[in-house]
Amino acid sequence: MTQDEMKRNAARAAVAYIEPQTIVGVGTGSTVNHFIDALAEIKDQIAGAVSSSEQSTARLKALGIPVLDLNSISGFGVYVDGADEINAAKQMIKGGGAALTREKIVAAVAKTFICIVDSTKQVEVLGKFPLPVEVIPMASSYVSRELAKLGGKPVVREGVVTDNGNLIIDVHGLRISEPLALEQQINNIVGVVTNGIFAARAADLVLVGSAEGTQVLR
Ligand code: A5P
Repeated sequence: MTQDEMKRNAARAAVAYIEPQTIVGVGTGSTVNHFIDALAEIKDQIAGAVSSSEQSTARLKALGIPVLDLNSISGFGVYVDGADEINAAKQMIKGGGAALTREKIVAAVAKTFICIVDSTKQVEVLGKFPLPVEVIPMASSYVSRELAKLGGKPVVREGVVTDNGNLIIDVHGLRISEPLALEQQINNIVGVVTNGIFAARAADLVLVGSAEGTQVLR
């Protein structure tokens, strides 16, 4: 079974957690693209979606799923998103697709965060995947110097501008043994919009697609 087929299995399993006539929070990435395709099959049974990126918004709209403005609703139930790495505490690194800030916002509003991954994303310690940090462009050099003090190697992602008009710095070589503390520490650097550690808002449920089927981690 290919990695993409494992992603697809996890994504399709998430549809079972969507309650009829509710608003669905939609993340970003190749795993989520499979979820959006599955959601389109039940689009008449949901009240619409809130999206975490222009990319997902375009796919949702192309498949006839109405996209609602997050500011026009007071809350919603389930947010479904992928991850670049996830540990046993359901803490994640996200942002490989540069959508981390909007993902963190939509996740914060959701009652339940369901993370859909293939089994290659499971790790003991976060950090092998370079940690994405979204920064205000004029602060990128300063923030890079501050990030280097944490022991990692910051590299500005070439040719990438986020949906919010900002830059992404990928921090290589971190061993993130205390995700919550590091998430807060990096967010305290002036010029950082947010970073890709999702520990303050970890997942509630993880659906892991593998060749053996889809495993549910609560
Ligand atoms: C997008 O910015 C990310 O947070 C994605 O959720 C993450 O990169 C997972 O992407 P894939 O599903 O494409 O592996």
